[in-house]
Amino acid sequence: MTSIAILGSGRVGRVLATGLAAAGHTVTIGTLDPTREAAAWADTSVAVATHAEATEAAEVIVNALPGDVSVDVLRGLTTYLEKKVLIDVANATERGPDGMPGTLCYPDGSLAEELQHALPTTHVVKTLNTMVYSVMAAPATLTTPGTVFLSGDDPTAKSTTTALLTDLGWHPDRIIDLGDITTARAPEAFALLIGPLFRALNARAFALGIDHSA
Ligand SMILES: NC(=O)c1ccc[n+]([C@@H]2O[C@H](COP(=O)([O-])OP(=O)(O)OC[C@H]3O[C@@H](n4cnc5c(N)ncnc54)[C@H](OP(=O)(O)O)[C@@H]3O)[C@@H](O)[C@H]2O)c1
Repeated sequence: MTSIAILGSGRVGRVLATGLAAAGHTVTIGTLDPTREAAAWADTSVAVATHAEATEAAEVIVNALPGDVSVDVLRGLTTYLEKKVLIDVANATERGPDGMPGTLCYPDGSLAEELQHALPTTHVVKTLNTMVYSVMAAPATLTTPGTVFLSGDDPTAKSTTTALLTDLGWHPDRIIDLGDITTARAPEAFALLIGPLFRALNARAFALGIDHSA
């Protein structure tokens, strides 16, 4: 059992908190509005706290914040993030007029690299950002299995993340370790496809999938 802080109580935060708590982990949502969220999670095992309280108490922190504010918010939590695993699922884009992800905030790099640079003693792992939120904790809902990628510099942090992905229902065959944190550039660029795919598929759930069985 791992103590996990999930920062941000939006669609992604809710799905991951519910899935990881159901797998038996100790989950705390870190939010800007603990009063509102305490009411929302009242009948569950998920606790609610401020960003700082949740991060301080956790072994693993999940960044489920908007990507364009993630570096600033997480830099403010540096002390509580030291030597911990930071799972970054965010996409850093400026929103288009339809509210969907638009231009990349870090076109010559990635949010994950920015976070690793800003938090040098924290072990950043990029994952889960190449799918719609509902698939993150329910990969079996897709008829064709999706793929989940890992990017990060620390092998132990990636092992910890892999175990949590397995708890969320991801088969080990569908998890691909792309390499160090610089490899996060590729899955982060997938954000450019999210808006067009969402419209083309009429809002149906999807995940990027790599067929590597042959
Ligand atoms: N939605 C998807 O299908 C999907 C898929 C892959 C990746 N992602 C990425 O995952 C992240 C979360 O996505 P989401 O769909 O859950 O977003 P969302 O529904 O907009 O939720 C984001 C949450 O972050 C908090 N927040 C918002 N503005 C903030 C600010 N300025 N400072 C601090 N906290 C703030 C809020 O939670 P509190 O009110 O609790 O503080 C908000 O509910 C994003 O980076 C997104 O690109 C989303």
